[in-house]
Amino acid sequence: MIGRLNHVAIVVPDVKAAAKLYKGMLGALVSEPVPLPAHGVTTVFVTLPNTKIELLEPLGEKSPVRAFLERNPAGGMHHLCYEVADILAARDKLEGEGMRVLGDGEPAIGAHGKPVLFLHPKDFCGTLIELEEV
Ligand code: CO
Repeated sequence: MIGRLNHVAIVVPDVKAAAKLYKGMLGALVSEPVPLPAHGVTTVFVTLPNTKIELLEPLGEKSPVRAFLERNPAGGMHHLCYEVADILAARDKLEGEGMRVLGDGEPAIGAHGKPVLFLHPKDFCGTLIELEEV
C-alpha cells in the first residue's frame, strides 16, 4: 500500500540554526525558512537525492509541535511521511484493521498542498506516521 518515503520531519528549537547545520556540516541542499501559519510551523526543506527532511520550528502559541519540543528541548524526530496513491482507501483499510487515525479521520491539506492523515504512534512501533496522497 505505501510507496516512497516522502519525508522525515524533525522538530527543532531554531530552524535557521538547524538549516545551517545541515548545509554547513552535511553539505545538504536547504531551502530558506518557509512560515506556514496554517500548520503552526516554520519549515526548512532539506532536499536529498531520494527523499526530503523537513526541519520544523513551532510557529505561534497553538503550534502542534510545541509540546513535542517541550518534551525534547534539543529537538527530535517527529514523524515519517509515506506516500499512498489513494488516501481514503488507505484510511478505510487501516481503520478496518483497528488502527487509529488521528483527528476526525478526514484528510487535511498538508504542508505540500496534498491530502494527509496521521496514524497513532502506539499502533506503529512508537512512530507517528503521516500518509500523503500523491
Ligand atoms: Co510531514
